[in-house]
Amino acid sequence: MDAPRERTSWLQGGGAVCRTPPRAVARPSRLVLLGPPGVGKGTQAQLLFVHTGACALSTGDIFRNAKSGTVERPSPAMRTAVTSMNRGELVPDDIVLSIVHERLRCLTCRGGFLLDGFPRTVAQAEALDQLLANEGLHLHAALHYELPTRAVVSRLTGRRTCPVCKTVFHLTSRPPKSAGLCDYCHGPLVQRADDEPETVGVRMAEYVECTAPLVDYYRAHGRLRTIDASGTPNEVFERTLSILHSATRAPV
Ligand code: AP5
Repeated sequence: MDAPRERTSWLQGGGAVCRTPPRAVARPSRLVLLGPPGVGKGTQAQLLFVHTGACALSTGDIFRNAKSGTVERPSPAMRTAVTSMNRGELVPDDIVLSIVHERLRCLTCRGGFLLDGFPRTVAQAEALDQLLANEGLHLHAALHYELPTRAVVSRLTGRRTCPVCKTVFHLTSRPPKSAGLCDYCHGPLVQRADDEPETVGVRMAEYVECTAPLVDYYRAHGRLRTIDASGTPNEVFERTLSILHSATRAPV
């Protein structure tokens, strides 16, 4: 798999610009990836990036980036966001929306976008629709990944992540070439603090209460595409592509 793009604009916000901006494409993909924590949204976003050239934009990566100390003086809002994330709770909508608004250039980027972890509430989905409409853009589809909870938990407990390039590995299903080291940055992989069993329970409950209603929201707007997330990452990706080709006009 290709290394992820650096995504400086998304991760840092404000006036930060990407060193290697995406190339312009005739029909950029604009997609949302939905599904419970650990279902594999980030993994599919990375595969879709390789296929479409659109950046994988994870709100969780923004908060983890702030937590990692690479942001010099995190704002009070960002500190609140990190506290919520550490507990497994959702970050309040007003904070998430101001952080996304500050990164509007990523949503209007000529390369398109693959949103992973945003929107996560109906209020966030409505705000995203409004932001895109203001720019004369629209979402092509919301890809909804489904998997039984037991399988999701096993994906979460085996996950290891590169704190630098954010690439996601798994102890058994996607092991790094050298044990414990990132294939791209060659630095040590870490286990996310919110993958501890007690925090996973909180995240699952937040998903059911606040994020699952988005399935109905996107269904009602005719943009929902549900995908079976069982099997290997490549099998799920093949399903994703075939659904995008057959059921939407999304440019894949
Ligand atoms: P976020 O970073 O968005 O986390 P999440 O939604 O909980 O999703 P994950 O990143 O845990 O999982 P994933 O579905 O991307 O799975 P992955 O591909 O890594 O959010 C974290 C926190 O930030 C939230 O809890 C909240 O506090 C806050 N937050 C973020 N956005 C917010 C928002 N908009 N509003 C409010 N709060 C917000 O895969 C998991 C593992 O499985 C990996 O190890 C992978 O290698 C493996 N794997 C993937 N696919 C397969 C497969 N097909 N077979 C076997 N293994 C697989």
